[in-house]
Amino acid sequence: MEPGNYYAIPELAAGYDADSRDRRDLDFYLDLAEGLGAVRVADVGAGTGLLCSLLAGRGHDVTGVEPERTMLALAQQQEHAAAVSWLHGAAETLPAGWADLVLMTGHVAQYFLDDAAWATAAAHAKRALKPGGRLAFETRNPAAEAWRNWTTAGRSTGQGPVRTEVRRDGDLVTHTDHWIRDGSSRTTTETLRFPSREDILTGLESAGLTVDRTWGDWDRRPVSADCPEWIFLTHPV
Ligand SMILES: C[S@@+](CC[C@H](N)C(=O)[O-])C[C@H]1O[C@@H](n2cnc3c(N)ncnc32)[C@H](O)[C@@H]1O
Repeated sequence: MEPGNYYAIPELAAGYDADSRDRRDLDFYLDLAEGLGAVRVADVGAGTGLLCSLLAGRGHDVTGVEPERTMLALAQQQEHAAAVSWLHGAAETLPAGWADLVLMTGHVAQYFLDDAAWATAAAHAKRALKPGGRLAFETRNPAAEAWRNWTTAGRSTGQGPVRTEVRRDGDLVTHTDHWIRDGSSRTTTETLRFPSREDILTGLESAGLTVDRTWGDWDRRPVSADCPEWIFLTHPV
């Protein structure tokens, strides 16, 4: 059987949601939205909608965009989901000139697997911004080689035991996960890109965006050679 998409499998998607309750990145983006005075916030690749719900609970006008219907269905059950506008799709579905702040969180920017896909996503995000709006997102610093910790012979998770294999091909890293749940097994796989800083900036530039600020982790430390994250705040040129 072909490996599945983790986010399309209801019990794994629900497990992702359960495991995402205590995330420093969500607090970071909530503070960022407040600090920028962003009224209208769009979240691209909103997943199970946790951040959208938290933003809506704080009074922001929120649009959540998510391509995977299983995730979107969970998002629509979050506490403040009724106050969020939900769109099925990706960044191209965002209304033009609407947002004070567009976010891509949970390393969504690493799902664009080549320069062209990244440039297109950045251009759609920029199109969604009001004058003076911002795009914020993060990718993992490739030098920190996070994928080295992903391979396991077996580890317990909220979604059941999982064994993970990792394959790297240039800046693409594919992890294949073998899950055992309720006595039955299934396999999922996904490929993420670990773009260089230059590749990120080139895509932003082609979309007409430039970088305001960067941080190296959720505690707002500066970017360094081995910091785990590259967090970008950008605005139209
Ligand atoms: C790791 S989850 C992050 C979800 C959410 N942003 C969070 O922080 O919990 C990655 C999400 O990106 C979505 N995704 C995958 N490819 C995408 C694309 N091309 N455009 C937008 N979202 C995408 C997946 O369906 C999934 O919900």
